[in-house]
Amino acid sequence: MSILDEIYALKDELEKDWAKVSSLQDLEFFRVKYFGKKGLLQDFIKKLSSLSPEDRRVVGKLVNELKEKYENLIREKKDDLSSSSGREWDLLIPPRQIEVGNLHPLTKVMEELLEIMAGLGFEEVSAYDAPDVEWDYYNFECLNIPPYHPSREMQATFFITDKMLLRTQTSPVQIRTMLKRKPPLRVVHVGRVYRFDAFDATHAPCFHQMEGLYVNKNVSFAELRGTLEKLVKEIFGEKAEFRLMPSYFPFTEPSAEGHVKFGDRWLEIFGCGMVHPQVLKNVGLSPEEWSGFAFGLGIERIAMIKYGIDDIRLFSDNDIRFLRQI
Ligand code: DAH
Repeated sequence: MSILDEIYALKDELEKDWAKVSSLQDLEFFRVKYFGKKGLLQDFIKKLSSLSPEDRRVVGKLVNELKEKYENLIREKKDDLSSSSGREWDLLIPPRQIEVGNLHPLTKVMEELLEIMAGLGFEEVSAYDAPDVEWDYYNFECLNIPPYHPSREMQATFFITDKMLLRTQTSPVQIRTMLKRKPPLRVVHVGRVYRFDAFDATHAPCFHQMEGLYVNKNVSFAELRGTLEKLVKEIFGEKAEFRLMPSYFPFTEPSAEGHVKFGDRWLEIFGCGMVHPQVLKNVGLSPEEWSGFAFGLGIERIAMIKYGIDDIRLFSDNDIRFLRQI
């Protein structure tokens, strides 16, 4: 069979095949069979250089004509089939690439902290028992912060009504837990808190805290210290240095700040202390019988130190370039 017979035979076959195309799938098979990179017409193009000048002209012309004609026909047919059949499944479209992402840095820190606390025997209080919209009574009054108390000045509050607010701290979870369950108690809660602050590099109107509470008989300050030191070493490594300094919170007595050393600087990580006898009384527990310790920490603070982030706004900007780095 001469090369010319071959190309005419191919043209016949191609035309017969074309007449049978009735779906997007047929169309794609057709396109690949004849016009694909390894298609039948390509074979002829490869052979061109070895043909006599005359054959080359005829074959070359025919191949070009076919290509031009069918490129258009294929495009039109594709539009046709896509719009008329609509529901046709095109199994040959390459799958969409799905990019695998990563967890938000705050989510990572919260999950890590909860896991460490679980290891220390602290049970998580679910969001169901720890609402963001809180009563003034639980957020302030029960925590020994009465309406006239100057410490309310420390926390600018988003009030919803004069009795209802967005919680300014996770500490009301202590109250809710002690009202609901009898000690001994060892609980932890992570969640959002709100303060009427403008955004800047270190302040945000909404951020996250973790709260821990332990209530039992004869709880000692040494147990508080030991727990926090263990927590610090789990987060920042065995070599991390930890210290407690005297402080003041209305709901603990004595109160302390927990500091961790980074380079030559001590940074405040925790507020903590022994649960104030008045707080125990407020939830119906006798301070003669029960005692406890509590602590709170800022999640953003931990994440900023851990990942070397210098602006708290990055957490909520949702810039994918930032989120991908962690
Ligand atoms: N709630 C305090 C704050 O937001 C932090 C805190 C201090 C929590 C002492 C505690 C604690 O449980 O005992 O500043």
